[in-house]
Amino acid sequence: MDVLGATPTRNLALELARVTEAAAMMAGRFMGRGDKEGADQAAVNAMRLILGTVDMNGIIVIGEGEKDKAPMLFNGEIVGNGLKPDVDVAVDPIDGTRPLAFGRSNSLAMVAVAPRGTMFDPGPFLYMNKIAVGPESKGRINIEKSITENLHAVAKAKGKAVEDLTTIILDRPRHDDMVAEIRKAGARIRQIPDGDVAAALMTARGDSGVDVLFGVGGTPEGVITACALRAMGGEIQGKLYARDEDELRRGREAGYNFDQVLTMDDLVSSEDVFFATTGITDGELLKGVRYYGDHITTDTLVVRGLTGTVRQIRATHTTNKLENLSAIRY
Ligand code: FBP
Repeated sequence: MDVLGATPTRNLALELARVTEAAAMMAGRFMGRGDKEGADQAAVNAMRLILGTVDMNGIIVIGEGEKDKAPMLFNGEIVGNGLKPDVDVAVDPIDGTRPLAFGRSNSLAMVAVAPRGTMFDPGPFLYMNKIAVGPESKGRINIEKSITENLHAVAKAKGKAVEDLTTIILDRPRHDDMVAEIRKAGARIRQIPDGDVAAALMTARGDSGVDVLFGVGGTPEGVITACALRAMGGEIQGKLYARDEDELRRGREAGYNFDQVLTMDDLVSSEDVFFATTGITDGELLKGVRYYGDHITTDTLVVRGLTGTVRQIRATHTTNKLENLSAIRY
């Protein structure tokens, strides 16, 4: 092999895989138990413990909320072992707490890391209108245009008819008008109960059959999606969404612009991103955690922005060996 340039550098996402695996293995115990808080706490505990072993000086930009409400993994918390690099960290210990609590599909544990100062800080603004697509439609979407126009642009980019497109959208009353417009345009629709990060990532996985995500979902989830899609070659655009006049007024007073289009660069301004996500319950993106007594299996997607490498890691964890080494009882 000829060495053509600089030697390859570290892929932090491989270490992040351990973080999301641990969160998923802990949270997976709560499947169907109706205990959203217990599940979240378990995932947070595991995620925080393993994050502390990662060589990085991280600050949580997207976390579990403000410090007074979230005792751990709160926005502004310092994570990692303090060594270089200096990075921003986005965590979502469980995306899809409800599906997990009720034993439904597509619940994931996820973490993203990017160089310090490059992630969008959504402040208290919870919701964002989003459009997300995979690599073939990158550069062709525009959230300022109508859904119909975007559908035509995606159809053209993919070389198929609008009727052949599958859109994905959270099943919420706020989306009634969007759903009506998609139906009128003739595209197919998957309305999902939860989990718009998984849905957005599906647009970048050719075998998912999903072409475009529309609709309003979490802003933190939008930033995490941007990190992942940046690495997977897709695109997301967003616009902050106020649920009522009061939220709009407070946002404007705090200096947020609800008319601004948040491009992928605005959501995460560096290509040097790392993202890992592990399935907690079975989903179309990843398999959920399986417990076999003496071992546990996990399924994780690991992506790196600089190289665009996407790995899927099926891991077998030997329960008693892990428990001898770590403070976590899986
Ligand atoms: P959580 O599991 O963190 O609650 O998020 C699930 C989710 O479906 C996200 O994927 C999505 O962005 C958001 O909730 C939508 O919010 P809402 O349920 O309030 O419409």
